[in-house]
Amino acid sequence: MVLAESYGAQVLDVGCGTGKWAVEVAEALPHVQVQVVGIDLVDPPIPTSPPNCQTSGLRVGSFEICDIVTGLPYPDETFDVVHVRDLISGVRAYEEMLAECVRVLKPQGYLLVVEIEWVVSCLTVEEAESHLPMCHNTLFLEALEERGLDAWAAQSLDAHVAAVNQIERESVRLDRRSVPLGGWAGDPYLEYAGRLSLDAFRHFGNAIRILMQDHGVFGSDDMHSAALEELDVDAGASRPVWVFDNVIARKKSA
Ligand SMILES: C[S@@+](CC[C@H](N)C(=O)[O-])C[C@H]1O[C@@H](n2cnc3c(N)ncnc32)[C@H](O)[C@@H]1O
Repeated sequence: MVLAESYGAQVLDVGCGTGKWAVEVAEALPHVQVQVVGIDLVDPPIPTSPPNCQTSGLRVGSFEICDIVTGLPYPDETFDVVHVRDLISGVRAYEEMLAECVRVLKPQGYLLVVEIEWVVSCLTVEEAESHLPMCHNTLFLEALEERGLDAWAAQSLDAHVAAVNQIERESVRLDRRSVPLGGWAGDPYLEYAGRLSLDAFRHFGNAIRILMQDHGVFGSDDMHSAALEELDVDAGASRPVWVFDNVIARKKSA
């Protein structure tokens, strides 16, 4: 919505990962001449991107290699929109990272932040009591905290954004959404999202192997298989969800 109305908007996606969000935005909005730049520590694994996914000189290509922690290679007030999704597990000083994003926003520009609450929940208390994968939830959060990461930052995402000096506090809006884990939702769109999120969860043990080993947990795949057994989604025993916190906020006027 913000972008659909912003003719010629300059958009930055911080920690763009696969580049999917940046490419989807660029593809969806060529008619308003949106220009999108994605930055990440590593190259996104995509062969091509649309022409309005911008190159800006650090390297040839549509995306840039950059560590947000050491600062973004852009002057103050460059972008109309800065998007951050799923960076809690990568950045220690989370509010400082947000402040750096806001530095490169134009006055009245939009900051969009999406984070996952890193514990699996269930739809009802009864289901949670019998099926929550407590071992997985606890060990994973402990491992993040041991690395100096703020595992609970998503639960107070609006407060973190509002704490950034140049953010207009009254503009901060939080939208908290539960996404099903598994295809149990009874709505075609949510069932699709649920199947994708369960698939991602199945690969999660592998993705967090090094993190868990550093925490003294060897066999994160086994921990994950156990979590899936506890949830017992395929048999319909529980209706687990991931909670996503979405925050939108504006930078103060000049
Ligand atoms: C969990 S992925 C999320 C990717 C993408 N935002 C998405 O939602 O699909 C986190 C991404 O942040 C990147 N990242 C982590 N720390 C970073 C840093 N200090 N600077 C830039 N990117 C970073 C990682 O390389 C990874 O691609």
